[in-house]
Amino acid sequence: MKALVFHGPGKRSWEDVPDATIQDSTDAVVRVDAVTICGTDLHILGGDVPEVTDGRILGHEAVGTVVEVGDGVQTLAPGDRVLVSCITACGTCRFCRESRYGQCLGGGGWILGHLIDGTQAELVRVPYADNSTHRIPDGVSDEQMLMLADILPTSYEVGVLNGCLRPADVVVVIGAGPIGLAAILAARLFSPSRIVAVDLADSRLDAAKAFGANVVVNSGREDAAAVVRDLTGGLGADVTVEAVGYPETFEQAVALVRPCGHVANIGVHGKPATLHLEDIWIKNLTITTGLVDTYSTPTLIGLVSSGQLDTSPMITHRFALDEFEQAYDVFSRAGETGALKVLLTAGS
Ligand SMILES: NC(=O)c1ccc[n+]([C@@H]2O[C@H](COP(=O)([O-])OP(=O)(O)OC[C@H]3O[C@@H](n4cnc5c(N)ncnc54)[C@H](O)[C@@H]3O)[C@@H](O)[C@H]2O)c1
Ligand SMILES: [Zn+2]
Ligand SMILES: [Zn+2]
Repeated sequence: MKALVFHGPGKRSWEDVPDATIQDSTDAVVRVDAVTICGTDLHILGGDVPEVTDGRILGHEAVGTVVEVGDGVQTLAPGDRVLVSCITACGTCRFCRESRYGQCLGGGGWILGHLIDGTQAELVRVPYADNSTHRIPDGVSDEQMLMLADILPTSYEVGVLNGCLRPADVVVVIGAGPIGLAAILAARLFSPSRIVAVDLADSRLDAAKAFGANVVVNSGREDAAAVVRDLTGGLGADVTVEAVGYPETFEQAVALVRPCGHVANIGVHGKPATLHLEDIWIKNLTITTGLVDTYSTPTLIGLVSSGQLDTSPMITHRFALDEFEQAYDVFSRAGETGALKVLLTAGS
C-alpha cells in the first residue's frame, strides 16, 4: 500500500510500505476513504514531537471502510463505514471507564500517527476497534464526518464544554485556525449572545465571520480588552477559549474573562505561560486545559446527521490520496493558500 511516511524533521514522502494487517484480536483494518492533515502533523514534521520516529506513517483522522476484523472485534464487520477517531480507547482501564479516553492507560490515547502507524495511508490498523471507531449514519457524507475525528470534539469538549458556555454568554475565541473556528461552530450550539474572535490574520478573521463570529478583533492593531469591555459593561467575557498555544494568548484569555468566568485552554503550549495569581486570585475563575477525550463524538454525529451542525465549510482544498505531497505543501502554507482543512479522498 501507499502511505505518507515521516523520515525525521522536515522529511516526508508518499511511498510504498507493507499493507496494514491485524496484529491483535481487537484490531480492525480500515480502507481509508477520506483523510486530512492536522496542525499537529506539521509540529511532528517540525521536529517538536520526538516520540514520532523515522518510518512512522502520520495521521490521526480518517473515514473509511472496514476490510478485516480480528476475532475479538464484536461490533464491526467488513463493509462497515466508520469514523476513525484521533483517540484510541482500550475501554477497560480506569480512565476509559470514566470516558477520559485521551488518558487511556491500556495502550490507547493519542497513538495513531504518533506511537503507531496512522491514517495517512491506503489502509490503517485500528487497535481496540470496537471502542475507537464510530459507525457513520446513512446519508452523512465522509467529509462532514471526517471533521469529527479530531477538531470538532477537541473544540467542543476542551473549549465549549470545559468552558461551561451557557445561553446568552459572551464568548471570546482567541485564535481562528481550524480549532478556533470549530470552537465558534460548537459555541453556536449554545446560543451565546456574542461570539468574539481574536486573531492577527485578517483572512482568519474573515473565516471567523463566515463561521458565525459576531465581532472580530485583529489584536495586532485593535485592543481586544477594550472591545470586550464595551460588549460586557466593563465586566469581561463569560468564557474565553484559547486556541493558539502561546504564552501571550493564554495570558490574554485570563485577562479578558469576567469574575467567576471560565477560561478554557485548548492550545498546545511549548513554552511556559505566566498565571498572574496576584491579579486573579480574587476573581473566582475556573481555568481548564486538556487533551481531547472524544467522549462527545456520538453527540456530534447526531448533530451532523440531523443538520444542526455543518462542518463542510471547514474543507478548503481537495486532493486525491496520491497527491499527499501537494496537500501538505498547501496546508503548511496556510497563510498564503487560505487552507483550513484539506480533504484527501481515495479513488478521486
Ligand atoms: N488540546 C487538544 O486536544 C488539541 C487538539 C488539537 C489542536 N490543539 C492545539 O490548538 C491550537 C490551535 O490549532 P489550529 O490547528 O487551529 O492552529 P493554527 O496554527 O492553524 O491556528 C492558530 C491561529 O492563531 C492565530 N494567532 C497566532 N498568534 C496569535 C496571537 N498572538 N493572537 C491571536 N491569534 C494568534 C494564527 O493567526 C492562527 O489563525 C494549537 O496550539 C494546537 O496544537 C489542541
Ligand atoms: Zn489533530
Ligand atoms: Zn483505556
